[in-house]
Amino acid sequence: MEKEYAVQMAASNLRFGPGVTKEVGMDLADMGITRVLVFTDANLKDLSPVQTVLNALEQENISFDLFDRVRVEPTDISMKEAITFAQDGDYQGYVAVGGGSVIDTAKAANLYATYPDDFYAYINAPIGLGKPVPGPVKPLIAIPTTAGTGSETTGVVIMDLTERHAKSGIAHRYLKPILGLVDPENTRSMPPVIAAASGLDVLCHAMESYTAISYHQRPRPERPIYRPAYQGNNPISDMWALKAIELTSEYIVRAYKDSSDDEARENMILASSMAGMGFGNAGVHLCHGMSYPVSGMVKNYRPEGLNLTYPIIPHGMSVILNAPAVFRFTGQACPERHLKIATMMGANVSDNKDAIHMAGDYLADQIIELMRELNIPNGLSAVGYTSEDIPALVDGTLPQHRVTKLSPRPAKAEDLEKLFEDAMTAW
Ligand SMILES: NC(=O)c1ccc[n+]([C@@H]2O[C@H](COP(=O)([O-])OP(=O)(O)OC[C@H]3O[C@@H](n4cnc5c(N)ncnc54)[C@H](O)[C@@H]3O)[C@@H](O)[C@H]2O)c1
Repeated sequence: MEKEYAVQMAASNLRFGPGVTKEVGMDLADMGITRVLVFTDANLKDLSPVQTVLNALEQENISFDLFDRVRVEPTDISMKEAITFAQDGDYQGYVAVGGGSVIDTAKAANLYATYPDDFYAYINAPIGLGKPVPGPVKPLIAIPTTAGTGSETTGVVIMDLTERHAKSGIAHRYLKPILGLVDPENTRSMPPVIAAASGLDVLCHAMESYTAISYHQRPRPERPIYRPAYQGNNPISDMWALKAIELTSEYIVRAYKDSSDDEARENMILASSMAGMGFGNAGVHLCHGMSYPVSGMVKNYRPEGLNLTYPIIPHGMSVILNAPAVFRFTGQACPERHLKIATMMGANVSDNKDAIHMAGDYLADQIIELMRELNIPNGLSAVGYTSEDIPALVDGTLPQHRVTKLSPRPAKAEDLEKLFEDAMTAW
């Protein structure tokens, strides 16, 4: 195998500032677009971010339909409904106003409306066929309302495949939104549980991309087009990841405790896009890979403060619940990187000359401290899982090659069993 020698930074087009949402009508008009489909979810449709978008479209005489049936934590079934809706209209472009669930649904609808194909054609192999997106899709403007998934910066779609009880997705640079409007005003109404969960997703994006294998460790592709979006840690992604860790450590608790704290909200949504630019090119690893069955197999857990008729484990929560166990496991593979994050998060290692040998433990301890401050449930057992679920959780993680292969320490089935056991209780 020839080792990779290059890394490609696929840039994202973002506009940041309080109030930029109201510019969306002018952006579309300037692109010559007169008819769009706006995506959101049932909870957000009456809130200020969506109302601001609809007013902005009316002001510029852009005709629109509103699809407000995005499922929070989208599934193949909910995606198909959105795709059919998009295929039935003659839209020149799309606007997504919401969290990752909404932005990802809009990306999928745009793809299948532009290049119809069998549903599994574009889904990542080995679950789907992993067919590359054939060409550019229609313009999508993404307006995040969480801080967040960074989905406005990535070419990634994640969904729950109901028959398989696991999440998978589609990943291709062509799916990147043409523009992300990153507006801190839009996260003002986020319920605290989502401020905590989506903020911890930011932290995990940054921590996992920074500790992923190096891009040099991957095989060199035959042609540049086969170079994946998730390339492993690299100097460009590192820069975004470290800044995102710094901002998240400083502002996440403030943003969680007080949604009127403008400085905290601004910095969290910036951190979200920064982490997105990092992981969108480097990738994530075990915390995310293990989170997919954790959310896919949800039992009865219903987070406080969410008005939903079905149980969910919010995405960021399903990721962070695995994080202490994962970083204790991966610490030995690149201890300097783990220790650097731990110290950025507040660990004091100055009087311990053996700290480097305990890097994973230091990082796990910092994460647990943050989980407690943000009222995250105490491990997988606190959201309904028992040891009996571990074989199924492992089975749901094993096919997530795209991310698990980026782990700096390879995790076989027996390692994953131990990791899930360790993740049952965090403190
Ligand atoms: N594409 C990517 O790169 C990527 C990355 C990470 C996660 N994801 C996916 O994104 C999804 C999670 O997205 P998320 O964490 O942004 O949350 P979400 O979109 O699932 O929303 C969670 C809840 O918060 C509510 N909400 C969102 N913003 C709000 C606001 N401003 N005010 C009031 N309520 C608000 C929603 O209505 C919903 O009830 C998962 O499906 C995950 O797999 C995608």
